Amino acid sequence: QEDDFRKVISHAKEYGYVFQSSEIYDGLSAVYDYAQNGAELKKNIKEYWWRAMVQLNDNIVGLDSAIFMHPTVWKASGHVDAFNDPLIDNKDSKKRYRADVLVEEHAAKIEAKIEKEVAKAQKRFGDAFDKDQFLATNPRVVGYQEQIGTILKRLGSSLEKEDLADVKALIEELEIACPLTGSRNWTDVKQFNLMFATKLGASAENATDLYLRPETAQGIFVNFLNVQKTSRMKIPFGIAQIGKAFRNEIVARQFIFRQREFEQMELQFFIRPGTQLDWYETWKEKRMKWHLSLGMGQENYRFHDHEQLSHYADAATDIQFKFPFGFKELEGIHSRTDFDLSSHEKFSGKKLQYFDPELNESYVPYVLETSIGVDRMFLAIFSNSLIEEELENGTTRTVLRLPAVLAPNKAAVFPLVRKDGLPELAKEILEDLKWDFNVIYDDKDAVGRRYRRQDANGTPFCITVDHQSLEDQTVTIRHRDTMEQHRVAIADVKRIIHEEVDM
Ligand code: GAP
Repeated sequence: QEDDFRKVISHAKEYGYVFQSSEIYDGLSAVYDYAQNGAELKKNIKEYWWRAMVQLNDNIVGLDSAIFMHPTVWKASGHVDAFNDPLIDNKDSKKRYRADVLVEEHAAKIEAKIEKEVAKAQKRFGDAFDKDQFLATNPRVVGYQEQIGTILKRLGSSLEKEDLADVKALIEELEIACPLTGSRNWTDVKQFNLMFATKLGASAENATDLYLRPETAQGIFVNFLNVQKTSRMKIPFGIAQIGKAFRNEIVARQFIFRQREFEQMELQFFIRPGTQLDWYETWKEKRMKWHLSLGMGQENYRFHDHEQLSHYADAATDIQFKFPFGFKELEGIHSRTDFDLSSHEKFSGKKLQYFDPELNESYVPYVLETSIGVDRMFLAIFSNSLIEEELENGTTRTVLRLPAVLAPNKAAVFPLVRKDGLPELAKEILEDLKWDFNVIYDDKDAVGRRYRRQDANGTPFCITVDHQSLEDQTVTIRHRDTMEQHRVAIADVKRIIHEEVDM
């Protein structure tokens, strides 16, 4: 697994997708830059989301609010008081951990033991193996499951009660029962606020403390009434936004999975109080469908319902994706009640109510939120697409099977040789295609090597111009995933590509 993940990171660098920020200065931890191909893939992910959310839903509109917001916003949202992570330091290794994550990693280790038992039994019993029955009856597995349940329950309740001493005790017990870090010498657990602070104003006396937003959601809440009135939307309706968010993450690992500067795609959907659980189910289903539409395999997604709810939510789930390091949160779906709008009413002194003509009454709407990180979506797609394939002739090829709609370049055009007028015709085709798609021109090396380069680059089509092209105005078009080649009329190339890559 670790090896696969390393390959993902080095492929992302080698093919111009993701670079470490400020690399010539040895980089800045948990900050990344998207290069020529990465920027395009990221843009396409955002477009794919925006189209599904804003363009295709009559009752959802977009917003682009500022990163800086009035400092009171973060008091009202709860981020000043509650946006804290419990941290614990290991005195031996001098490493810092998020205490809750550490406990969850222990639980995951036990879960891996269960999987091992299942695999063993499956091998032993073959076709007769009944997994559900095994999970329910095998004493060792049942024991492990109970252990995980107890660990997570205890973690949840001690975090809720802010009993940080118990979180520490839990970590110490776990390190004895099921060693993970191999260390038993821990500091107390401390809370640490994740918001980046900065100052507005030139002189120190007059400067106001500002925060870089840790989520885009609050920009939507404070604009709720402005948008509702100017768009004349009736509840239920939604406001969608894509934008940067910043968190001073402590455990900054796993490449672009957890960054200090990242991008979110969020929807706040405003609804009648009392209808939230229906909408919660509706949005769970809609969002899962959106993910599955990319064809990355149903088995790579699962819901993970929250037992321990945030201060603002009455129901919450994650859509988890199978990253190279296991199932992890890709998107959050939260029933936020009227927590945010009511709190902004209190702190601002302004009414944030909606008059419902059907009910003939005013109320503070409830909110259903869907929130996904662009960068996490990028990592999900990129890691899932990177494949090393055994070919029939015994060689292997590296192919980046990006969904064609998201691929940075839709086609590459090659002249078979650099003479006889082939480059001229290839460039003519490129000039025509580039009004519709990003297209690459490549005339270096043997054509086979050029194909492999585009396979690894994620380009769905290669178009080769040869001598026959000059005679009959046809080219070969090669498909990245099947490697099949067809001879088609130059006049049909654009249509063929459109059929595959259009959203
Ligand atoms: N408005 C709700 C909210 O921000 P969240 O679960 O904290 O909820 C939502 O974040 C999504 O943002 C996550 O599911 C994840 O995809 C992404 N995200 C959060 N922190 C991130 C980080 N440090 N780096 C990259 N993506 C992050």
